[in-house]
Parts: sequence; C-alpha cells; structure tokens
Amino acid sequence: MTAALVQYVDIPQRGDARGGLAVAELGGALPFPVRRVYWIHGTKPGVSRGFHAHRELRQLCVCVAGSVRLRLFDGRREEDALLDSSAKGLLIGPGLWREMHDFSPDCVLMVFADAEYDEADYIRDRDQFIRHVHSS
Ligand code: TYD
Repeated sequence: MTAALVQYVDIPQRGDARGGLAVAELGGALPFPVRRVYWIHGTKPGVSRGFHAHRELRQLCVCVAGSVRLRLFDGRREEDALLDSSAKGLLIGPGLWREMHDFSPDCVLMVFADAEYDEADYIRDRDQFIRHVHSS
C-alpha cells in the first residue's frame, strides 16, 4: 500500500471554560526538536505561496486562525490537505513539493521547523524537484 502524503497530527487541546489552549510539545504533537518558528499571515486575496520542496527540512504546520489548503506532491502523486482548525497539524517531511492556496483573510499559518532557514535546502523549480526525487 502507498503511504499517504498527508500526515495530520492531533494537537492536544487544554482549553477550559475560560477559552482555548492548544499545546505542541516534543514527544507530543511535535516529533522533532524545533529550531525555528515562523508564521504566514495577512496573505492578500488570491495569493498562493510555497511552490518549493526541501531537501532535509521537517516541518509541522498549524493553522492557528482561519484556513488554508495545502497541496503536496511527491513527484508522482498529489494530495490536498485542508487546515481549518488549530487542533490539527500537518507534518511535511523532506522531498515533498508544497503549495499553499485559498488562504482565508484571517489565516495565520504557524510553522515549526527542525532547522534554521537555509536557502540551500530549498528546491524552487518543479522540474528540478521531479528530477531530484526520481534520481534519489
Ligand atoms: P519562502 O519560504 O519562499 O516563502 P513561501 O514559500 O511561502 O513563498 O520565504 C519567503 C522569503 O522569506 C524568502 O526571501 C526567504 C525568507 N525567509 C526567511 O528569511 N526565513 C525564514 O525562516 C523563511 C521561512 C523565509
């Protein structure tokens, strides 16, 4: 059986009568030690982002507000993931082309990564990505 490209992670909810509280910690929702956190917000209407893959980087994406659709491509198959709840994370390992579409105006997409920013880890050309996965 072929493994699914989309790997969701449940984010434990610790809210109470006062409101919500969600936790991402090592050994829980986070399968790797985090070395960088960034968030994408205020995305303009109609804008799509991403259009790259990483050679080594592992990431956990959590849409902490609003919603966004992510399209993953492994060089052969494409799968879509809808992130519309802060109780659901999406794990994206190396070797996956990702595109982000349909950002809601209030979307805040938080990304936890296992390494610092390194442009050399990016593959930004789709044809180069396809050659990369078919040669590895
Ligand atoms: P990029 O990863 O290309 O964003 P997207 O794929 O969503 O379009 O990053 C956009 C710009 O921000 C690019 O010039 C690199 C820079 N950047 C950093 O400096 N540090 C970071 O951690 C990230 C994610 C991006």
